[in-house]
Amino acid sequence: MTTLSPLIAGNWKMNGLTHSLDELAELARLMTAGAAPRAVVVVCPPATLLAAVAAQGASSGILAGGQDCHTDASGAHTGDIAAGMLADAGAQFVIVGHSERRAGHSETDDEVRAKAEAAIGAGLKPIICVGETEAERDAGTAESVIAAQLAASIPDAAEQHELVVAYEPVWAIGTGRTPSVEDIAAMHASIRAGLVERFGSERGESIRILYGGSMKPHNAREILSIENVNGGLVGGASLLAKDFYTIISAV
Ligand code: 13P
Repeated sequence: MTTLSPLIAGNWKMNGLTHSLDELAELARLMTAGAAPRAVVVVCPPATLLAAVAAQGASSGILAGGQDCHTDASGAHTGDIAAGMLADAGAQFVIVGHSERRAGHSETDDEVRAKAEAAIGAGLKPIICVGETEAERDAGTAESVIAAQLAASIPDAAEQHELVVAYEPVWAIGTGRTPSVEDIAAMHASIRAGLVERFGSERGESIRILYGGSMKPHNAREILSIENVNGGLVGGASLLAKDFYTIISAV
């Protein structure tokens, strides 16, 4: 199996003002002070800070990502942001299909797939999020729910273009709860099997599968050492440089 360099992405969500760039400067200081991190590090700030994060992060190897994009390249969509605009601001990644957008903006798998296609078209690497609700996990349908979300959310273009999958159980986001190591291992193995089935073994094994949902300094090492966990998508703990750096160093 291909060894994938792990990727740790911080999702700042709707948090961050100009002074938050001090936290980014501190992260850059920590990352350049010791041994070079083994992970690819991405910070996804709110769109207002994207250009600044991209510019400021460049010298320390911190990459920038958007949190969402529109399906269209331009047009009459007040308040929306096109993938090309994110790329123009310096982004290399964009999160699509986060459960907070699926729930809060009624985004469907079809829309998520169209957003991922738009991102690829703009030269970005989409981070496609999937996750089951607590009721779905309790009902024993988590793996089939995720398989269906992935089948419909990942575009065929994934065959030739880089993208990332993020498994984020909805009930683990912002709750301090995480699935057991066995449950994460089983889900990531099932996602891997689905990718290999759809794209063949070489391509399917070259796609990173991130875990997200209450990844914290105290549990990162254990989660990141699970087979088929190729990194993390970190919410709350990415807002503090010290915590985020601890997670990055856990790789
Ligand atoms: P938390 O790490 O705050 O649980 O958030 C996870 C998440 O939603 C990242 O996209």
